[in-house]
Amino acid sequence: MTIEMNVNSLEETQALAMKIATLLEPQDTLTLEGDLGAGKTTFTQSLAKGLGVKRTVNSPTFTIMKQYEGRLPLNHLDVYRLADSDEDLGWDEIFFGDAVSVVEWAHLIEQDLPEERLAIRIERVNDTARRFLLNPIGQRYEQLCEEIMK
Ligand SMILES: Nc1ncnc2c1ncn2[C@@H]1O[C@H](COP(=O)(O)OP(=O)(O)OP(=O)(O)O)[C@@H](O)[C@H]1O
Ligand SMILES: [Mg+2]
Repeated sequence: MTIEMNVNSLEETQALAMKIATLLEPQDTLTLEGDLGAGKTTFTQSLAKGLGVKRTVNSPTFTIMKQYEGRLPLNHLDVYRLADSDEDLGWDEIFFGDAVSVVEWAHLIEQDLPEERLAIRIERVNDTARRFLLNPIGQRYEQLCEEIMK
């Protein structure tokens, strides 16, 4: 199942992320794919806001992961720079603790990802419009998608 959602503006992306944030539970994992500038970090910033994170969320490209305090802890990973390494960052602790995890460029660590997750692909339509493709993997995420579409 893939759900397609079209947004026409930055504000609509922010609203979608904020809505998803209200539905998240501990251990939820969201993967974000999409070209440079598609909006992965932008989406994550609003998700964080929706989770009650007060700190500024920046792209963690050079640190691989940043953690934030909110209603739930948020792990924000950008694994773009892990492409050629087998580094084990302690994936189980990252993905199977109480935090919500968001992974930009997740396919680069495919073998380390939880089997069940919400895979999100963001496609740039034009300067302001984006297409979100939501692919829930596992029952929890199918349920989450039903909530998102309500
Ligand atoms: N509807 C929209 N949704 C998301 N971003 C948008 C939208 N419209 C315009 N933008 C702009 O597109 C840019 C997206 O950049 P962002 O850093 O979020 O991309 P990214 O996918 O994280 O890229 P990278 O792969 O470099 O990390 C921002 O400048 C944002 O303001
Ligand atoms: Mg980014």
